[in-house]
Amino acid sequence: MERKERVFSGVQPTGNLHLGNYLGAIKRFVNLQKEHDCLYCVVDLHAITVWQDPDVLAHNIREVAAAFIASGIDPKKQIIFNQSQVSGHAELAWIFNCVARMGWLNRMTQFKEKAGKHKENASVGLFAYPNLMAADILLYRATHVPVGEDQKQHLELARDIAQKFNNDFAKSIEKAGFEEGFFPLPEPLIAGPATRVMSLRDGSKKMSKSDPSVMSRITLTDSPDEIAKKVRKARTDPDALPSEKKGLEGRPEASNLVGIYAALSDRDTQDVLAEFGGAQFSTFKPALVDLAVEKLAPINSEMKKLMGEAGEIDAILNEGAQRAREIADPIMRKVKEVVGFIGA
Ligand code: TYM
Repeated sequence: MERKERVFSGVQPTGNLHLGNYLGAIKRFVNLQKEHDCLYCVVDLHAITVWQDPDVLAHNIREVAAAFIASGIDPKKQIIFNQSQVSGHAELAWIFNCVARMGWLNRMTQFKEKAGKHKENASVGLFAYPNLMAADILLYRATHVPVGEDQKQHLELARDIAQKFNNDFAKSIEKAGFEEGFFPLPEPLIAGPATRVMSLRDGSKKMSKSDPSVMSRITLTDSPDEIAKKVRKARTDPDALPSEKKGLEGRPEASNLVGIYAALSDRDTQDVLAEFGGAQFSTFKPALVDLAVEKLAPINSEMKKLMGEAGEIDAILNEGAQRAREIADPIMRKVKEVVGFIGA
């Protein structure tokens, strides 16, 4: 079984896809497809770790797929699919439930944040979520995983799981003919000026799907007017923009808006500051509105068009799932052999 570079990443279909998801992940998925084989997954099994209304879930699954395609991922060249159609994700996750240690999962900050004070009432799935995420990646023996900063700890756990599996089953892995361990240690790709896009209302909080304030995020379904309103009302400080990066220190809101501008325009932060250094927000914000509308409006209208053709999205997901299974099935068969299960 050959080892090759492969990119895998996933996005949860929990609605409110926002600029953070786009700049931290989806836009980068598009760039990676030029030189890599990629699998981009709508992770519906992850979504149900918190209860989802079934009708809304189906809509949201299609919406993430539409966002992938509208942003420029080519479903003919790359694999776009939804997780629940490939049973290997759940099967491998179970095996990883038995490899990962309680202590490892107890350290996951995202579980603590999501479960909050009601830990006893959180689903078991929410706790074991990072094991499923490791399974998503390793089911394809993927080597590179583009994600935003908030997923870093989960990626480290995925590496720990891969390593422990390789150690725990070292003898039988060798017997099965693998020389350098069964699973690669997947590398997180966390890069660019927008690895952590912050709330537009509070520069100390991440932009998130679940923030109760709709003004905190720009979503991929926002109209140009909504984008303009949200940027206009975004919190800032009273100073002009600096012309050097260092001048953004201690100015989280300014830093966030400049980072968003840089990521949307494919420039680095310093380059943007060289242009806008000395400018007031009354000048910078309208420029940001124009840029955001220029970049997001075409995605928005393509998404709308695709969402009107649900049958076509479903066909793309079905075909993607079939191609994903072709990669996953032989790997899963080997995993079972290595673990000591019998059967064809
Ligand atoms: P999810 O659905 O919360 O987010 C999807 C992607 O968007 C990134 N992201 C952000 N990037 C920058 N700024 C932000 N404010 C921001 N908010 C979200 C996330 O880092 C992510 O890359 N557990 C994952 C989904 C997943 C996955 C995987 C990812 C499941 N299996 C396997 C990679 C590989 C999640 O909840 O992402």
